[in-house]
Amino acid sequence: MLKVESLSVGYGEREVLKELNIEFKKGFIYSILGPNGSGKSTFLRVIDKILKPNNGTIYLNGKSIKSFSASQISKIIAYLPQRIDILPFCKVLDAVFLGRKPHISFEPTSFDLEIVLETINKFGLSKFAFRNINELSGGEFQKVLIARAFAQKPEVLLLDEPVNHLDPKNQIEILKLIRKLTKDNNILTIIVLHDINLAIQFSDYFVLMKNGRIFKFGDLTVIDSDTIKEVYEIDVEILEYNGRKLVLF
Ligand SMILES: Nc1ncnc2c1ncn2[C@@H]1O[C@H](COP(=O)(O)OP(=O)(O)O)[C@@H](O)[C@H]1O
Ligand SMILES: [Mg+2]
Repeated sequence: MLKVESLSVGYGEREVLKELNIEFKKGFIYSILGPNGSGKSTFLRVIDKILKPNNGTIYLNGKSIKSFSASQISKIIAYLPQRIDILPFCKVLDAVFLGRKPHISFEPTSFDLEIVLETINKFGLSKFAFRNINELSGGEFQKVLIARAFAQKPEVLLLDEPVNHLDPKNQIEILKLIRKLTKDNNILTIIVLHDINLAIQFSDYFVLMKNGRIFKFGDLTVIDSDTIKEVYEIDVEILEYNGRKLVLF
């Protein structure tokens, strides 16, 4: 569905992604793991066509993204950056409505409104619908941002550290919902997570990045103590229980 071929990307002279090759399938969650500065955010930005590669090609449904206009991309890909500025006085309803923008040509239809209300409901935000987004807790605010991305009805969802700063209950609630919506809607979800154990619990595949390269890619079998040590430069122990893994630091 999304294929990355010999992709190299830089800021100015400095190359930060080097020779990436990977293929992503619809209906699965891919966690991007790796230390700060390893190029995770840059990778999402180049997929969303915010950055141009120095080399290589990204194919979306078999076509190079070079041939997609920005508005075509925004109909297919929803991207939630690591840092986000959003109008402080916007209501929750309006913020989620912004997700429909790529699909609206003249004015919103009742179908757009239906999707927005349904999404707000799924995220448990109905009681906040008319509240200003600057009057929400961190967890509620993050739910609004993710709801907005889902309201876009994307085929590809890119989430950059969406559950940072949230308490465990909110982290798990949001990741469960992301997983359910990914499966129900057959979306490709690529998510940057810092917590390896959360990644293990909620994703199907793992992309481990180091120094701008994909160090390892695969299912749960790629998560072992040697790989974690190599990528993060920390010693860990991995416990296996009922086919699940737990990384102990
Ligand atoms: N806008 C930018 N201009 C120049 N260098 C950048 C920019 N954004 C990121 N970088 C550099 O690119 C490298 C990868 O950054 P990033 O993709 O943000 O890593 P990660 O998300 O894994 O922490 C880092 O060395 C970072 O300093
Ligand atoms: Mg980042």
